[in-house]
Amino acid sequence: MKLIPLILMGCGGVGLQLIHHIVSCRSLHANKGVRLRVVGLCDSKSLLVASDVYSMELDDSILLEVCRVKSNGSSLVTLASSVVAGEHQAYSGPEVMRKVIEIASLLGKSKGLTIADCSASSETIGVLNQVVDLGCCIVLANKRPLSSSLEDFDKIYGDPRRIRHESTVGAGLPVISSLNRILSSGDPVNRIIGSLSGTLGYVMSEVEDGKLFSEVVRTAKTLGYTEPDPRDDLSGMDVARKALILARLLGLRINLDSIKIESFYPEDMGPSVMPVNDFMKNGLPLLDKDIEDKIKRASSNGNALRYVCMIEDSRCEVGIRELPKESALGRLRGSDNVLEIYSRCYNQQPLVVQGAGAGNDTTAAGVLADILDMQDLFP
Ligand SMILES: NC(=O)c1ccc[n+]([C@@H]2O[C@H](COP(=O)([O-])OP(=O)(O)OC[C@H]3O[C@@H](n4cnc5c(N)ncnc54)[C@H](OP(=O)(O)O)[C@@H]3O)[C@@H](O)[C@H]2O)c1
Repeated sequence: MKLIPLILMGCGGVGLQLIHHIVSCRSLHANKGVRLRVVGLCDSKSLLVASDVYSMELDDSILLEVCRVKSNGSSLVTLASSVVAGEHQAYSGPEVMRKVIEIASLLGKSKGLTIADCSASSETIGVLNQVVDLGCCIVLANKRPLSSSLEDFDKIYGDPRRIRHESTVGAGLPVISSLNRILSSGDPVNRIIGSLSGTLGYVMSEVEDGKLFSEVVRTAKTLGYTEPDPRDDLSGMDVARKALILARLLGLRINLDSIKIESFYPEDMGPSVMPVNDFMKNGLPLLDKDIEDKIKRASSNGNALRYVCMIEDSRCEVGIRELPKESALGRLRGSDNVLEIYSRCYNQQPLVVQGAGAGNDTTAAGVLADILDMQDLFP
């Protein structure tokens, strides 16, 4: 049985679902001759680790208890005080990252320790920079490490065989692997265009059906499709981070501030100017007319209106675009992600990747598949 040691950073929606997947896939993995050994877990405040990371792991009963405690909104610290009984240890504050580095130096090169970043924080970048030098494999759902500085990107991507990050762009969809396959075959990719926000995909197709933009956004918030402040989706920043990751994979040496980002709302309706309730009640209706006009114009041109990322030559943009109704993006309905990749081989007809691009279940499944994908690197 091949034993794969794992440290999980982030026990939120995705991290906890990943734990559930790991536990429920035990017999499936055993049939494949592998076992995931979770040796450490951390949230924003603390780290829970097996006392002897060589021979011990956080067993399934502890993992499920972590799920229960974290689902109730408590910190891992609460759990640490009740379950630590010689088999586990808990660390807080600066000790957390120090301990992760220590474990990485013990299990990185020798055992292929995988560090999975399912946080939404930039604070993990420092530790990721260090563990790559210790031979660890890295799996990311967190977009920030690859969408921060080019220096961090280069460092974390130093050995492409040891990093997987499918969930940074399309949750569980095979976007990155498809792109990397094309690139590594020497087929030059000259254009990528995609709808990479399930929330904005939903909003645009509802508006296309004749509903008011303000009402659609309010409904999306009620259904839990948006962030608590929908402006986090409507700013386009999340799509821009995904676009930046794709652009960098194509070799563009750019940063977030080189991307032209079109926001749905003007600066004077931004979070620092207008409280969220005010925006939802009074700000949103002021945006209806403009979106309605754009939809009508697109329709009279035989096009559909979509919020997309576009990467072409050295250009990377994120915003509202008219697209042919019969294209994969034009046909998009609801919250699916769609990515069209154009290259020499996929010239007239692009390679299209489409499917659910969000959700804890799909995203965690993408992370788990990424973890297993690298295991052939180790004997
Ligand atoms: N959900 C999706 O559909 C989806 C799809 C694609 C990608 N993603 C990405 O997946 C990541 C996780 O998403 P989520 O929905 O699970 O987020 P979430 O529910 O907000 O959970 C984030 C977790 O990260 C922990 N955390 C914060 N700072 C940390 C640090 N410095 N070190 C270690 N852990 C830290 C938080 O700790 P506390 O519990 O203490 O707050 C929390 O447990 C995000 O980057 C997101 O963009 C999500």
